[in-house]
Amino acid sequence: MNQGKSSTGNSNKVTASELAIHGGNPVRTSGWLNWPVWDADAEKPMLEVLRSGDWFRLRGTKVDEFEKAYAELIGARRVLATASGTTALETALHVLDVDAGDEVIVSPYTFIATYNVVFNQKALPVFADTDQETFTIDPNKIEEKINERTKAILPVHIFGLPADMDRIMDIAKRHNLSVIEDACQAWLAEYKNRKVGTIGDLGCFSFQNSKNIPAGEGGAVSGNDDALMDRCHSYHNCGRPYGKGASEYAGYPFLGGNKRMMEFQAVILLSQMKRAKRDFEKRLENALYLDSKLKDIPGILPYKLSEGATKSAYHIYPFRYKKAFFDDLPRVKFLAALQAEGIPCSSGYEAQYNDGFMDEVLNSRGFKKLFSQQRLKRYREELHELPENDQLTSEAVWFFQNMLLAERKDMDDIVDAVQKVYENRKQLL
Ligand SMILES: Cc1ncc(COP(=O)(O)O)c(C=O)c1O
Repeated sequence: MNQGKSSTGNSNKVTASELAIHGGNPVRTSGWLNWPVWDADAEKPMLEVLRSGDWFRLRGTKVDEFEKAYAELIGARRVLATASGTTALETALHVLDVDAGDEVIVSPYTFIATYNVVFNQKALPVFADTDQETFTIDPNKIEEKINERTKAILPVHIFGLPADMDRIMDIAKRHNLSVIEDACQAWLAEYKNRKVGTIGDLGCFSFQNSKNIPAGEGGAVSGNDDALMDRCHSYHNCGRPYGKGASEYAGYPFLGGNKRMMEFQAVILLSQMKRAKRDFEKRLENALYLDSKLKDIPGILPYKLSEGATKSAYHIYPFRYKKAFFDDLPRVKFLAALQAEGIPCSSGYEAQYNDGFMDEVLNSRGFKKLFSQQRLKRYREELHELPENDQLTSEAVWFFQNMLLAERKDMDDIVDAVQKVYENRKQLL
């Protein structure tokens, strides 16, 4: 039973007419699927867990079940469930020994959590510029950022678009660095037919409310190395020993924290996973259709998959808006016109590193002790040396994953609306 509202579609296919933002008929008047959706099979186990009082993983079985099922789904040897994607990333950074005073190379085009987790380890997230076509980290820009303090590379498979993992793994190997895949938006996405999150040393996923596999909050670390995954388990469970050799220890022999997933989250996820593959295929099919149509509209540049990427998960469907083809119509006006036509859209991530939090971190007592004045000065300067990312943040346009779960005719509404705005752009100047 799908609890989300389905759209019925209502394309009038009229493109060369008055824009809806000026009182014309919108291309689409019906809505889109509400998110999240859930299925009735989650209700019984939810109630059972509630009534059992076994709400945390050390007394229940659901989190264990979820870990096994998710590992199977993505083809990982092991999965550890966590409270969130953020705690998954924190766990991965800790067990891969990213320590105070280290540096980690990250993609600047991402959600703020990717930087925050590095700062919270008292390490510096060092940005390597973005490849505008793929929206992911540009492998050509990574090596110039490596220095003696660099410990890891943290590529982000943003929107589910896989980063160029062969190039990244090669660089990591040559410089003896760890690789943590931020796959928080990339459930089931594939690079050379392997699921992302299984290629680097560890992968991290998010199941937060807006995500393609949602549970309100939730996360996972994936990996193929038992010793490393045992350490993850231990770290996420207050440092209690876990796995091979655990019986040799008593008490709390390791540093750790509480980053555990609740049984309720696992119940939702076990149900969500039954629809995950089907939804993935649907989004993929609709995204490829949008690619084939939108690319013919002047000024609309759909994303490209990076070299070796085989399938994206489409948490977002992104393209670049080139205003020169729209008589210099600012993106903000393009977006407003599209929204008025019944097509939800967003300009997406800003250059968040220009927001105030950098000052708080870089001026803190800890960072001043850990990094030289010279390094922090250079770091600040480098924030203004990301021309590709700056341009991308000024041109990106996002459609949301729930829209991609609609039907072909609904995708036609999207295409018709973009075409209509293009044809009538002069009305907006
Ligand atoms: C790219 C990326 N990394 C990390 C996270 C953090 O995940 P969570 O919100 O589950 O802590 C998110 C979630 O929004 C994300 O999109």
